[in-house]
Amino acid sequence: MEVIICDTQEAVADRVANYIKYLINKKENATLGLATGSTPIKLYKKLIELYNNNEVTFKKTTTFNLDEYYNIDGDNIQSYRYFMNKYLFNKIDIDKSKAHFPICLEGENPNLIGDLYEKKIINAGGIDLQILGLGSNGHIGFNEPSSSFMSKTRIKTLTQKTIDDNSRLFNKNEYQPNMAMTMGISTILNAKYIILIATGENKSDAVNRLISGAISSKNPASILQNHKNVIVILDEDASSKV
Ligand code: GLP
Repeated sequence: MEVIICDTQEAVADRVANYIKYLINKKENATLGLATGSTPIKLYKKLIELYNNNEVTFKKTTTFNLDEYYNIDGDNIQSYRYFMNKYLFNKIDIDKSKAHFPICLEGENPNLIGDLYEKKIINAGGIDLQILGLGSNGHIGFNEPSSSFMSKTRIKTLTQKTIDDNSRLFNKNEYQPNMAMTMGISTILNAKYIILIATGENKSDAVNRLISGAISSKNPASILQNHKNVIVILDEDASSKV
């Protein structure tokens, strides 16, 4: 595991965007695994800048998002598809039919949708580069503590900690889902390269456990210590307890 500490959140975004640019310029039909949350917003802004400067094109890129709330349609403003459209896809030349989300609505079978998502990833040739954020409880995607390291895309019940952390993104009377479809830990580990981004002091404990904690399903991100090609990119605040 390589750990890079940058001065600012902008420098983190810059660094990761340049890795993505390098990959896509080398392999134009690359497959990216993408994350939502506040952390990657600056990265997506930077990718739009690179696209506007003609430094990269996403025309042939395929993407798979890590997760999606259960029973939230892709047009709902709280959906992760809406988030990706707003912060990235509407502003670049990606073919949206190649941008995938594990959407599962009530009445649909989460097991079948999970299996199908896995097959789509395999048919795309696997994920070349997976971008990850980090939950303050050590989750990656929505793989909450105690998630199996063998897990594949499936439905998960969110912990109260995650619901509380994410409540800032919902209005007071707005429905906040407590379940989500998420790539499994084994799905994530199958990516050829992984870049985990963490910024801000509130992630410093989780970052410390990720890098030097025991590998345990109680701390899902710790399994990344075993992956051959992981880069953890932090700002100073997130790295303060390393
Ligand atoms: C969410 C997402 C994760 C994300 C994490 C951190 O619950 N499922 O993919 O990495 O929380 O979010 P943020 O970047 O907003 O702190």
